[in-house]
Amino acid sequence: MTTGKPRVLATRHFPPDVEARLAANFDAVLNPEDRLYDGPALIKAAQGCDGIMCAAGDPLNAETIAGLPVSLRIIATFSVGYEHVDVAAAAKRSILVSNTPDVLTDATADIALLCLLGAARRAHEGTTMLRTHNWVGWTPTQLMGVHVTGKRLGILGMGRIGQAVADRARAFRMQIHYSNRSRLPADLEKGAVFHANPDDMLPHCDFLSINAPMTAATRKWVNAERIAKLPKGAIVVNTARGGVVDDEALIAALKSGWLAAAGIDVFDGEPKIHQGYYGIENAFLLPHMGSATVETRNAMGFKALDNLEAFLLRKQAPPDAVQ
Ligand code: DGY
Repeated sequence: MTTGKPRVLATRHFPPDVEARLAANFDAVLNPEDRLYDGPALIKAAQGCDGIMCAAGDPLNAETIAGLPVSLRIIATFSVGYEHVDVAAAAKRSILVSNTPDVLTDATADIALLCLLGAARRAHEGTTMLRTHNWVGWTPTQLMGVHVTGKRLGILGMGRIGQAVADRARAFRMQIHYSNRSRLPADLEKGAVFHANPDDMLPHCDFLSINAPMTAATRKWVNAERIAKLPKGAIVVNTARGGVVDDEALIAALKSGWLAAAGIDVFDGEPKIHQGYYGIENAFLLPHMGSATVETRNAMGFKALDNLEAFLLRKQAPPDAVQ
């Protein structure tokens, strides 16, 4: 039965309030199992649709996009990162792509600090000791970690999230260094030290926080050569995209002790992560939960819907188009 409303495919289960608004305003095609569609399944599910609400990890590559129905006019991703959507292929088919900037900045910056502190203060080893009944009591030398207050933090990628990480780190009196495509104005830089060449920043990083998007230029940017430029005992934090890090190199440096620890929320090829991470204790690992608060996930969904509604219901430009 057709409702006369534009038809929108939701590739995943989205928060209840988001799906309710989707169903109220569109002929919604929901994913019954919340399972990631592969390309052919996504194309099949999208038949007859005008829009797609997708999420990080969905295979909206050139091949999938080429197979989407002619009716399809907009892909609204429920994420700020959109490396899973081949934007050039979409443009060739005159399909618009939108994302959800701003609304996940704070939640993701919070998780970056959690990763930084969790790695520095050996949170994984502490909770494991407790939960495996191996805590024999407080001792003067137990689980001594790395001091955070007053240390130097280098931020690769000083966009909205990088700046929010810096703001939080300032509460720990950390000295902020950053590298970014361009230097920030003084009111946003707030005394942070700018490095035009990110390689020059590395020797100044007791902590390195990766907040840059995944692009051809950042793919495996954190490699063995660059890790060697960090001071011995540095800590690497990644809450951006796993592909920015060369896992082999990072794991080798964590094993050798060149790096004291790492705090990681995102993985190359997730959810299948490099097996080497399971064998080391000095990696504080989270399953890509940077934006996972009720408030943030609702806000992301509503932003994706704002874009779908503007374009499909009101014939306006989507406010967060990325092309
Ligand atoms: C994003 O929005 O890019 C986050 O990584 C969640 O997918």
